Amino acid sequence: MRNRILIIASTILSILLIITVSLLIHRARKQQSVSYVYGKRHDSPMSSSSSSSATTFFVSTTPADTSSSIITSTSTATTTTTTTTTTTTSASKPSLKICPTATWSKKGITVAGGTDSGSGLNQLTIPVDMFVDSEDAIYIADSFNHRIVKWNPGAREGIVVAGDTSGNRTHELNYVTGLFVDSEESIYVADNHNHRVQKFKKDSKHATTLIGEYGPGSGINQINNCWGLYVDKQFNIYVSEHSNHRITKWSPGAKIGQRVAFVAKPLGIHVDESNDDVYVASYSGNCVYRYDKDRKPVQRIGEKVLDSPYDFAFLPGFDSNNRDIIIADSEHHRVVKMNLDKPDLVTIIAGITNQGGSSAEEFNEPRRVRFDSKGNLLVLDSNNNRVQKFLIENNKCDS
Ligand SMILES: *[C@@H]1O[C@H](CO)[C@@H](O)[C@H](O)[C@H]1NC(C)=O
Repeated sequence: MRNRILIIASTILSILLIITVSLLIHRARKQQSVSYVYGKRHDSPMSSSSSSSATTFFVSTTPADTSSSIITSTSTATTTTTTTTTTTTSASKPSLKICPTATWSKKGITVAGGTDSGSGLNQLTIPVDMFVDSEDAIYIADSFNHRIVKWNPGAREGIVVAGDTSGNRTHELNYVTGLFVDSEESIYVADNHNHRVQKFKKDSKHATTLIGEYGPGSGINQINNCWGLYVDKQFNIYVSEHSNHRITKWSPGAKIGQRVAFVAKPLGIHVDESNDDVYVASYSGNCVYRYDKDRKPVQRIGEKVLDSPYDFAFLPGFDSNNRDIIIADSEHHRVVKMNLDKPDLVTIIAGITNQGGSSAEEFNEPRRVRFDSKGNLLVLDSNNNRVQKFLIENNKCDS
């Protein structure tokens, strides 16, 4: 009799224990499913993050989840997962530094396109933006083909990673003008004629609309004629709106943008994430503006030397000691280097003939400049439907 009571009691206790444990596991899973861990990595040669920040990490929530309290709640299971994921994503490359005295070859090598315009996979038709990832793959906004193509290093043709047919459905794009790829390999597209910013998650053919759900216009929940995109490490999106003459910043999940700047016909945008300065190329102002973190225009360079600058890149290693930027001086068909502290000094880096053409030394409307992981200069030579690579020749700072 006593034995039987003991058995029943221990069975009840075991059942209670099992129920408690499964409830705890269920709770931990639920919390885990709404929290994501993003590893900061040096994914963009134009980002100016210092090598120290490249190894730091932060925890962020999904755009839909604005409650950060979930992250800080004390659940052992969540904390353990966070630590593990953080460790596995910590492999980051040292950031590249280019000396102010560095030079590049005068003749470009075609690394994408270069055949006549067309819609073949080895062709481009008036490409207007490009992004180089940490593996040196080149993503191209192939505007008239309504698609984003990815050219891996050494490839003879591209892979379509977004779009392909013109339209406004989730798998379609209509005249693509801006492009950014984040650390999770999501692709952000300025879908110009649809007046929207689309996000294609890695390997997805369908996009979600992040900005522009309310049709084109100048309202603070609208955009009009978007051309430049920049996505920072916190996944805020900066958009240049050519027709609204403004730059707007959109927090993750936001339905309303914040005005950052009013600029005449703005195109390329880059953010110095070390101090929150925003730089923007003004196509009709023939200059590059710098806005400080208080959104005040604090500098303007190039208005006496540039003609319709389209975009620019920070020289890798850009910091308060060396503020060199490389500019696509599109209507002069050349690429120049300027320094924010010596605005009278202009160095022609590529396109040395100063006139439009299609030889290895010439461009026909160069529109974007980027660097690969070795410091080679990549130029989107739009009207020649190609990307040209200029090899870095000398990068010894002490010589
Ligand atoms: C999408 O395209 C279709 C067909 O051209 C058109 O009828 C519709 O109005 C468009 N929708 C939006 C939101 O622009």
